Amino acid sequence: MLYIGVDLGTSAVKLLLMDETGDIKNIVSKEYPLFFPHPGWSEQNPEDWFEKSMEGICDLTEGFDKSQVAGISFGGQMHGLVALDGDDQVIRPAILWNDGRTGEETDYLNEVIGKDKLSQYTANIAFAGFTAPKILWMKKNEPENFAKITKIMLPKDYLAYRLSGSFCTDVSDASGMLLMDVKNRCWSKEMLDICGITEEMLPTLYESYEVVGTLREDVAARLGLSADVKVIAGAGDNAAAAVGTGTVGDGMCNISLGTSGTIFISSEHFGVDEHNALHSFAHADGNYHLMGCMLSAASCNKWWMEEILKTKDFGKEQEGITKLGENNVFYLPYLMGERSPHNNPDARAMFIGMSMDTTREDMTQAVLEGVAFGLRDSLEVARSLGIRIERTKICGGGAKSPLWKKIIANVMNLKVDVIESEEGPALGGAMLAAVGCGEYPDVKTIAQKIVKVIDTVEPEEELVKKYEEKYQKFRRIYPTVKCLY
Ligand code: XUL
Repeated sequence: MLYIGVDLGTSAVKLLLMDETGDIKNIVSKEYPLFFPHPGWSEQNPEDWFEKSMEGICDLTEGFDKSQVAGISFGGQMHGLVALDGDDQVIRPAILWNDGRTGEETDYLNEVIGKDKLSQYTANIAFAGFTAPKILWMKKNEPENFAKITKIMLPKDYLAYRLSGSFCTDVSDASGMLLMDVKNRCWSKEMLDICGITEEMLPTLYESYEVVGTLREDVAARLGLSADVKVIAGAGDNAAAAVGTGTVGDGMCNISLGTSGTIFISSEHFGVDEHNALHSFAHADGNYHLMGCMLSAASCNKWWMEEILKTKDFGKEQEGITKLGENNVFYLPYLMGERSPHNNPDARAMFIGMSMDTTREDMTQAVLEGVAFGLRDSLEVARSLGIRIERTKICGGGAKSPLWKKIIANVMNLKVDVIESEEGPALGGAMLAAVGCGEYPDVKTIAQKIVKVIDTVEPEEELVKKYEEKYQKFRRIYPTVKCLY
């Protein structure tokens, strides 16, 4: 049997075809535009997601026996607000996870409603990118659009809706809406009241591996697939990536170096960071996780390479970097503001510490290190909660760089396990599809069977020491410059 995993990302949709043994048969990627209509805003057209996914599925399955495709599932960019009217039309472009327009609404939720109440209702506090503040923003700034809303969904759920007609979401992705009672895996009535919406406007909640329907006849005909193909709820991209890297069960860790950068810690028990610096979300394996999220990770390197250095050859730019742990240049990776741990949509990126002998390589190195230091900030929060982590998996586009993996291992003092495929969310999506179709009894079993560690990057004592000193400097920069934002 064949299973399709769809990773609905921010720059592209990635699709992966896997057989029942976990063998990856094909991978296809289709880009779509990302719009920044104002500084700090970030939007996309849901129709682009659907069209590119349809094209992608056709290309992905071309040349394979389509009658063997049994299931399809997703890992999707989280938190985005997709609102539909009574005719199922998208009301306005989707407002994405890295959009920073909701400063006022976030402050209202955290300060007027209060962090304690939010944490009690949802296990989390408000961050600008979360869905609830976006709903409040729309209510205040686009009342005519708000009045039209009949359905609210997350990006990957829009795909599931178009593919199957099922108005559904999963608990891992829904955790990031600030509308769900994470502990009890149900919608929070209090949060719905606060946002002025009703439960009918929200999708039915499923576990990530549950079947939500089958392909619509017209969709199946266009794709050349059977209308019996099962659609499985899927997960937020980080939970899906965790499945794809085998980060399930207790105390496992995964770092994702995609457009965003995340550190994901799986747990068999519900838990909340008392300061709510880390998100407390449901996991796709039926359990829970804690997560820190930086808004710009591999996107910092992409910006530096493509917009500033005007090159596409990322590898060549990294070749001349030899002096790890000795860089005097620091980079704050806040191109789109920052989520964890600073929760400041107005923060911005900066370089600091250049002198006349600073080289192009030093600047590139500073970008890679700045992202690693940003991830370390979240790891420090986890450590302060008494969580002991010695090793991590890694995935995402940035994980292709051996240099970046080495920097991460040493800045964070973690053993970095490299797995066979760094396609975290797409692979995780295909794995959830296989579980939903009954090929495997549960997420843990499939992860144990098919995820393979092929290498480990070990931290080196001397380098860890040097980076410790650098990190202690790095962590003093944000509080010093904060007043400028
Ligand atoms: C997680 C988050 C990002 C997006 C990226 O909280 O906002 O990782 O899911 O797609």
